[in-house]
Amino acid sequence: MNKPRNIVVLTGAGVSAESGLPTFRSKSGVTYWDVIEDYLGPKSYRVEDVCTPEALAGDPVLVHRFYDARRAALAGVAPNAAHIALARLDAAWPGELLIVTQNVDDLHERAGATRLVHMHGELRSALCAACGARRPHAGDLPPGSVCPACGAPALRPDIVFFGEMPYQMARIEAAVADADLFVSIGTSGAVYPAAGFVQMAAHYGAATLELNLERSAGSSSFDETRLGLAGVLVPAWVEEVLATG
Ligand code: APR
Repeated sequence: MNKPRNIVVLTGAGVSAESGLPTFRSKSGVTYWDVIEDYLGPKSYRVEDVCTPEALAGDPVLVHRFYDARRAALAGVAPNAAHIALARLDAAWPGELLIVTQNVDDLHERAGATRLVHMHGELRSALCAACGARRPHAGDLPPGSVCPACGAPALRPDIVFFGEMPYQMARIEAAVADADLFVSIGTSGAVYPAAGFVQMAAHYGAATLELNLERSAGSSSFDETRLGLAGVLVPAWVEEVLATG
């Protein structure tokens, strides 16, 4: 990698795996498929059955319970070396930096990251389906919870479900267009629009690097792929890129 100035980092569930949070599609390690009954009880569910507007409309109690359990699980996990290294880069990097996470956990911010966008929403936030207000929320969020902004009993998990528009896409696309280095960490490249960012970055001339446990659906689009644990690869890469700064 030559001397980058403007960096975009995309992270996925793999960056939080070593903190003990499940992923969605990893071939190795614990996925939500393995533990979903811990969240929802012994009946078999697929993750996608609780991540759509139809699921929320059809069984709000189930969907709210799934996210209540995931929100509660945050108290039992901590940022790992990958989150800490990215926060160090955020604090030290003199050029532009944007960490775009697909994750809804709060581990990047708990590690200290500030130049951060949660494109798929956040567990520790509630969204009003009536007025669109978003606000921090800890603890359980029962269906019918009242929105403090508009008074409607319409608070829902602030999660971008399949088929809904991710947050801050204009800001993300502008950062990708300006980037001269795009780094993808711990994502399977299975879900768009995030999976398309690497092609967009390359189109605008950025160098592209993938750090992942296994080859992903997008690996062939990257200039370079390094395979291994994020907790090992990310600190090493941050050292390397800070040395060019
Ligand atoms: N270090 C690095 N990579 C890892 C690690 C690890 N310790 N553990 C797993 N991985 C990799 C897996 O090999 C996999 O390629 O992280 C990737 C995780 O992929 P997914 O489980 O599909 O998660 P993600 O890519 O973030 O999913 C995208 O899909 O379900 C939706 O909205 C949800 O944001 C999520 C989106």
